[in-house]
Amino acid sequence: MGVLTEHFTLADGSLIPKLGFGTWQTPNEVAPQAVREALELGYTHIDTARAYQNEQGVGQGLRDSGVPREQVFITSKVAAEFKSYEQAKASIEKSLSELDAGYIDLLLIHAPKPWPEMSDPAAPRYFEENREVWRAMEEAQRRGDVRSIGVSNFQIDDLTNITDHCQILPQADQIRFHIGYTQSELVAYCQAHGILVEAYSPIGTGRLLHNPAIVKIAERYGRSVAQVCIRYALQKDCLPLPKSTHRDYIAQNADIDFEISADDMAVFDAMSID
Ligand code: A2P
Repeated sequence: MGVLTEHFTLADGSLIPKLGFGTWQTPNEVAPQAVREALELGYTHIDTARAYQNEQGVGQGLRDSGVPREQVFITSKVAAEFKSYEQAKASIEKSLSELDAGYIDLLLIHAPKPWPEMSDPAAPRYFEENREVWRAMEEAQRRGDVRSIGVSNFQIDDLTNITDHCQILPQADQIRFHIGYTQSELVAYCQAHGILVEAYSPIGTGRLLHNPAIVKIAERYGRSVAQVCIRYALQKDCLPLPKSTHRDYIAQNADIDFEISADDMAVFDAMSID
């Protein structure tokens, strides 16, 4: 089954399946079927978030699949707008009850700033607040409600703000990463510090599907653009989280036992796509 049976090892020793199933924008009522199909097709790693408002459906899909809980890795996230200890604690409790899966394998801070402020360079940085959120997450890990903790959309200074003060180090940074948008300085920092990079939007939320240069290379491999994009992330030692609600796409996205040559990787590395 190739990539579906492989794992990365987090710095804390936990194993995380190498390919995840993303559920951003999957409505709660669609999530049970999408998650069940992904699990039936052999995925063992589902990525959700408090903000996606589909944790209940994700948990339902897990139970419907009949796959034992301990064989599945579930990631969720504390909503970006929750920036106090109390709000983070409440967010974690809500995620646990909505998922109803006993524990969360990996819990992330969804973003360093509330979403409306993310693209505003003049917005406050929430350094102290993120340390408070982190404290609630460390406690959840100590209680056993959460197995590993990490962050999402964090830049290097957001990360050092945590690592300079925390007791438990962030295990992962889930960021936008795809051909043409690789955040290479951040990725190099994470990989040098034992922080796994998870790649969301590995197909550029679908925008890469019709990129002529990528289409041409994909044709040469006899693969789809989606497969080439997902494979690219893996060859960069990033954990891809493609998302789809179509069974044939979900299956295809896991069928990536091929190798992109160093020359083609270099062509992709040189691209810039926003
Ligand atoms: P759909 O939701 O209709 O299945 P990303 O993972 O980068 O966010 O990209 C998600 C987008 O890519 C969705 O629009 C999804 O379509 C589409 N997609 C995912 N997998 C494939 C595939 N194998 N072939 C074509 N489109 C795909």
